[in-house]
Amino acid sequence: MLTWMDSLKGRSLMRLTSFSDAEMLDLVNLAGQLKARRRAGVRGNLLHRKNIALIFEKSSTRTRNSSIIAARDEGGGAEYLTRPDIHFGKKESVKDTARVLGRIYDGILFRGFAQKTCEELAEYSGVPVWNGLTDDYHPTQILADLLTIKETFGGLENCTVAYVGDGRNNVANSLMMGCAKAGVRYVCCTPKELWPDEAILAEAGEVAARNGVDVRVFDDPAKGVKGANVLYTDVWVSMGEESKTAERIKMLRPYQINMDLMRATGNTGGRLMFLHCLPAFHDSNTEFTKTTGALEVTDEVFESPYSKVFDESENRMHTIKALFVSALCDRSKV
Ligand code: CP
Ligand code: NVA
Repeated sequence: MLTWMDSLKGRSLMRLTSFSDAEMLDLVNLAGQLKARRRAGVRGNLLHRKNIALIFEKSSTRTRNSSIIAARDEGGGAEYLTRPDIHFGKKESVKDTARVLGRIYDGILFRGFAQKTCEELAEYSGVPVWNGLTDDYHPTQILADLLTIKETFGGLENCTVAYVGDGRNNVANSLMMGCAKAGVRYVCCTPKELWPDEAILAEAGEVAARNGVDVRVFDDPAKGVKGANVLYTDVWVSMGEESKTAERIKMLRPYQINMDLMRATGNTGGRLMFLHCLPAFHDSNTEFTKTTGALEVTDEVFESPYSKVFDESENRMHTIKALFVSALCDRSKV
């Protein structure tokens, strides 16, 4: 029997603060139930006749495929729309596109540059809109991360997540808030130049305090990761920031996750995992890593038993499905 909160019906996800702490954790819980249901071989009809538009301005492997299969698994459909395919933002404003697609589809998942575009889609479409990554936030990723931690450690209690790398990117912003809302301690290890935005940091600090934990920022990674149970990183150069490649690599090389940093947690014999939202640069032999030197995690860590990155990427599908189901499915009919 699947259970979830009625309050999630019809709701959009702009950033994790769109949901209460309890609602966010309820979604993670529902994703776990849907995962078990799929593993048991059930392909249901929770999204029967529900159609979802996927508007993508940036590339994607996980978010795109997770959305398509999440909808299809439960009897719904998803249509992948890129900027060159539709008039979006060129011949037709975001506001008009929102009003058109809102009449055709039951929900819209957006991946793109400006957070404002996602918010405009939600404001004018009249259907739930989910943020599948903007320059500022990546909330659906963090639902999958929390599910992975919960499954691996058997819960989210007494856990410290240390994020090491670009401390102000979309994943870092959302991870900080997701941990705060889940009552997980969060440490950000990043150079001064990439410190999280003051307002976002302060907001997460308040939420964390409410849940009995804290959010801290260190520029020395070896100090910051001490006692951590999860080491998390992301690419050093996010989509849309390619012009900053050289300066980022120089700045972030000391923040690479390698076995020495894993050992610096003091937890290699206990509760410790490595997470990465993917895609990752981990193999020093690829053409790109050879020429740029961009390598945020070594192969030794990426391929080690500590690494749960493929569980994490699978969980993108189950968590996105939970979002679709909780927003679109009539719970009384389940
Ligand atoms: N982690 C993530 O969002 O991956 P994609 O860019 O492949 O969707
Ligand atoms: N920070 C990365 C995340 C990719 C999933 C980017 O925006 O490119």
